[in-house]
Amino acid sequence: MNIGNVKINGIAALAPMAGVTDKAFREVCALCGAAYFTSEMISTKGLIYNSKKTFELMNRSKYDNPFAIQLFGNTPSDFSQAINIIAENGILPDIIDINMGCPATKIVKENSGSALMRNPDLCGEIVRASKSVSPVPVTVKIRSGWNSKTVNAVEVAKICELAGADAITIHGRTKEQGYSGKSDLEIIKQVKENIKIPVIGNGDIVDLASAKRLMEFTNCDMVTVGRASIGNPWIFSEINKGIIENQKWIAPSIKEKIEIIKMHIQKICTYKGQERGIKEVRKHMASYIKDIPNAAKYRKIVFQAESMEEIFTLCEKISDISI
Ligand SMILES: Cc1cc2nc3c(=O)[nH]c(=O)nc-3n(C[C@H](O)[C@H](O)[C@H](O)COP(=O)(O)O)c2cc1C
Repeated sequence: MNIGNVKINGIAALAPMAGVTDKAFREVCALCGAAYFTSEMISTKGLIYNSKKTFELMNRSKYDNPFAIQLFGNTPSDFSQAINIIAENGILPDIIDINMGCPATKIVKENSGSALMRNPDLCGEIVRASKSVSPVPVTVKIRSGWNSKTVNAVEVAKICELAGADAITIHGRTKEQGYSGKSDLEIIKQVKENIKIPVIGNGDIVDLASAKRLMEFTNCDMVTVGRASIGNPWIFSEINKGIIENQKWIAPSIKEKIEIIKMHIQKICTYKGQERGIKEVRKHMASYIKDIPNAAKYRKIVFQAESMEEIFTLCEKISDISI
């Protein structure tokens, strides 16, 4: 499929996750077959105030193909200003994605993220302002609505399409649900039926079967996978092979998995430094090993580890245990 003039080579893409989908993780997901990558969410105000940390989040890898920068904010002019700043700094994403789905309190209390869905006209203005300056396609990520009484994803999607959006990603939960309950396939289907631009379905995909179910039920054009990719980046090959090539996916051997895990650890420590990186390494390692026998015992070792070498030693130890 295409988003505007950007070709996406596959069905399963990595969902943006703040604190998770950094450059190291995106590179690992690229090696494991993800079709498309989005940065962690980036504050329009952070860009306007020239925050070094915010700029770091836009660091693109050569494997990020195609690559979207996701922006959050609450004011149309902040979005257009932020997009201009991105361009002026020579940062070249393929797509700009607008966050209208984040449920986090610190984001919604500033009227950003999913709070925007309470004001559909403002959603349209933000897309229009972004499109007026963006040299690349502009997409929008929404939820089903603010709460169960105000499910308005179809209305917001239509308004964004009219304002020039090039695709919509929808996570089938309301802001009020957070991550509880189930993602509603019916609302994703309704959005797909009511707009012409591509629709990317999101929520609760954990394997090929759940990806197929979402695509078949909703007729959406593509899916993004978030939480299930943490500790299992191979899910992208599983889905892409299974749906596009209709081939049975053969899981990598433990040795192959360990190679990827070690590469991930190495990348985290290279990009963030060992001191800062080790905390993230522990978090990812805990996810990689969560289903192995005696996981609790190994998790303890992971959380006591102070260096990359200690984690590597553990990797060797568990390489003959099935992950
Ligand atoms: C830790 C975490 C961070 C997230 N950060 C973002 C974000 O920065 N931008 C965004 O649009 N969605 C964010 N999300 C939501 C995911 O992109 C996705 O919509 C949600 O997790 C549902 O998909 P899943 O069931 O495949 O995880 C985040 C989710 C998690 C769990």
